[in-house]
Amino acid sequence: MITLSINGETREVDVEADMPLLWVLREELGLRGTKFGCGISQCGACTVHVDGKAVRSCVTPVSLVAGSEVRTIEGLGTPEAPHRVQQAWIDHQVPQCGYCQSGMQMAAAALLEEIPEPTDEDIDKRITNICRCGCYERIRAAVHTSAKGA
Ligand code: FES
Ligand code: FES
Repeated sequence: MITLSINGETREVDVEADMPLLWVLREELGLRGTKFGCGISQCGACTVHVDGKAVRSCVTPVSLVAGSEVRTIEGLGTPEAPHRVQQAWIDHQVPQCGYCQSGMQMAAAALLEEIPEPTDEDIDKRITNICRCGCYERIRAAVHTSAKGA
């Protein structure tokens, strides 16, 4: 058994220690908002927070996050009380197909915790997630709006 803290709740999972966190979230805990894209740490679709830092869950063994605070998109905000990043995403109508967007929002929220007013260069350097629909301009604009809403 591995004990995890996910979105503020304690959860126990009976899995191999090296199972990727992404699999645990999606298949064991039913948290399907975190997406599988490449599985090799390239695309960022699987981004979650571990102790406030953006982490690619497809290459993170679950045993590494025991004792840490894990936050997924389900814990970022709610439809009634969206996180400022989510509100900015809505205001800018950022998503196209939407597949990459939960990972993008997690990456953006973590960036703003570290750099409250990021420049375009900071955003490009720190949010390396891939959007196959090419929504990068709207993502940048939404990050700037989120920063102002701090
Ligand atoms: S699925 Fe994890 S980085 Fe692509
Ligand atoms: S919105 Fe389609 S991949 Fe990003």
